[in-house]
Amino acid sequence: MSSKNDIGTDSDATEEQERSGPRHVAIIMDGNGRWAQARGRPRLFGHHAGAKRVREVVECCPELGVKYLTIFAFSTENWKRTQVEISGLMSLFRRYISKEMKALAARNVRVRFIGDRLRLDDKLVRLMDELEHETEGNDGTHLTIALNYGGRDEVARATKRLAEDVATGLLAPEDVDEETLPRYLDTHVLPDPDLVIRTSGEARISNFLLWQSAYAEYEFIDTLWPDFTAEELGRLCRSYGTRDRRFGAVKK
Ligand code: IPE
Ligand code: IPE
Ligand code: MG
Repeated sequence: MSSKNDIGTDSDATEEQERSGPRHVAIIMDGNGRWAQARGRPRLFGHHAGAKRVREVVECCPELGVKYLTIFAFSTENWKRTQVEISGLMSLFRRYISKEMKALAARNVRVRFIGDRLRLDDKLVRLMDELEHETEGNDGTHLTIALNYGGRDEVARATKRLAEDVATGLLAPEDVDEETLPRYLDTHVLPDPDLVIRTSGEARISNFLLWQSAYAEYEFIDTLWPDFTAEELGRLCRSYGTRDRRFGAVKK
């Protein structure tokens, strides 16, 4: 168990006060299937087109001042899809990691995966470990990929580990609070997202970052993920800068 202070430094905080853009953007990359269907192609064609958009979006983060980018690639509910789509997606993830490893490492991107790895095949998990290992010394953009991720599953797994620590006496029940619980989440080293974007026109969060997004700003946009661009992300970041985040308080 590590603490949140692993990453956030005083200079980050000062930098944050000086600018108005989001520091952490999380994206529900939706609409690949409809994008492919509109072209009379199989859903996997859309997933391949969607995977290609990720590079441009990752690369524009430093310019936009986005230090953390979290992307939803596969949910705990996506196992309900056909076997053809699931195995196509799993092989796409393996290919994406192998193909992008060098470029991500060279661009100073630090990659992490969140979600339950137990249901993923060994070959994919090995590649995920390798990508995390290859980029662990990087301190540029922090890219987090949510793969077999579900917010409820994450909270349940966290609670299980927390209960184990209580049972062994490592943690006292009276010390369980809003500070301790998130230390058991997959995202324990990340700040909460400031801005959550969902593409494809659906206005729901589909089990993404439930705990972490309690006070996030949301953007539901019509663009299908394979059409999403760095330019659009820039527009959404600027629009975020005009929002008034009150966190329950009343402005002086
Ligand atoms: C998002 O696109 C990618 C994943 C969920 C894996 P979809 O595959 O959900 O595309 P639509 O929503 O059917 O268009
Ligand atoms: C959410 O999209 C999951 C990902 C983008 C990976 P879905 O397409 O699975 O969500 P629902 O089923 O429309 O809610
Ligand atoms: Mg969808």
